Amino acid sequence: MSLAEQSAEFAITPVSDALGAEVVGLDVSQPLDPETLAVIRDAFQEHHMLCFRDQTLADDQLVAFSTQFGPLEVFPEKDHTRDKVEVYHVANVSLDGEQLAEEDPAVIYQRNNGRWHTDSSYRYTPSLASILYGIEVLPDGAEGGETGFSNMLAAYAALPDDMKAKLEPLHQVHSYADIRRLEPGIPPMSVEERDALPPVTHPVIRVHPDRNYQRSLYFTSNTSLEIGGMTLEDGKALHGWLVDYASRPEFCYFHRWRQNDLVMWDNRVLLHRAIEYDVSRYRRVLRRTTVAGDVTIMGPFFPEARATAGG
Ligand code: SIN
Repeated sequence: MSLAEQSAEFAITPVSDALGAEVVGLDVSQPLDPETLAVIRDAFQEHHMLCFRDQTLADDQLVAFSTQFGPLEVFPEKDHTRDKVEVYHVANVSLDGEQLAEEDPAVIYQRNNGRWHTDSSYRYTPSLASILYGIEVLPDGAEGGETGFSNMLAAYAALPDDMKAKLEPLHQVHSYADIRRLEPGIPPMSVEERDALPPVTHPVIRVHPDRNYQRSLYFTSNTSLEIGGMTLEDGKALHGWLVDYASRPEFCYFHRWRQNDLVMWDNRVLLHRAIEYDVSRYRRVLRRTTVAGDVTIMGPFFPEARATAGG
């Protein structure tokens, strides 16, 4: 674990050996000065997940904070967004504040977030980061409700060589329409909606130009099991193996929410999932923005990537 980094005003302290750090003493409701922004960017690169404690943010402040890291995505479905279309409502409570029934499609939809995934991998250029703000969180002692993270740089590095070689040429199909189909009770997409978000394929191993072409695993379990170049059956088996592998404790950190936590993570190198909780007993209200990616995903066959040892 690296040493805690201190500045005059705030402290950044790692929260686990796998990933993540908490930032205490920094108010992000106002624009960050260039030096502070640079420190936060560096910490984000190093720890992949940052939790800013004790924040009080209206939607426009959440958007303004997020925009400092790049343009924001608009969530594909309007009924999950608030007045500001960049703010995605992650909750078992309606936009009007009413707790929803367990069988409400909006609650069922959230179950998809319980599978390891990386946000907006269904886009040709998937997101760079997600920023999730805890408005109402589970009380102390309640079971579940954490957000789990798994470090795909570490997971790739720990793979046996034969598995690295097997995964190297593979691609996975990522499809928003499939996310909608995984849980019975969510109305399927219309033809027009599907046409607006057609399936895309991404390499199962991606390389990171800003990390000297370091390799990481890149896959999701909330979409198609189809892995290009394999039979459906073999693809499913490999997919199952990858999902179990991502859950190994040495790659993971589970964030127990405190009210007013603002958690920002790197979708390029982490998977995440919401841990199940009793939706009929507890209210859980979070708001998310998603920082758009700036580059199409590179696989290990890019000449620059081939020239490096990778992972
Ligand atoms: C998400 O997947 O964006 C939300 C995660 C959570 O609800 O913990």
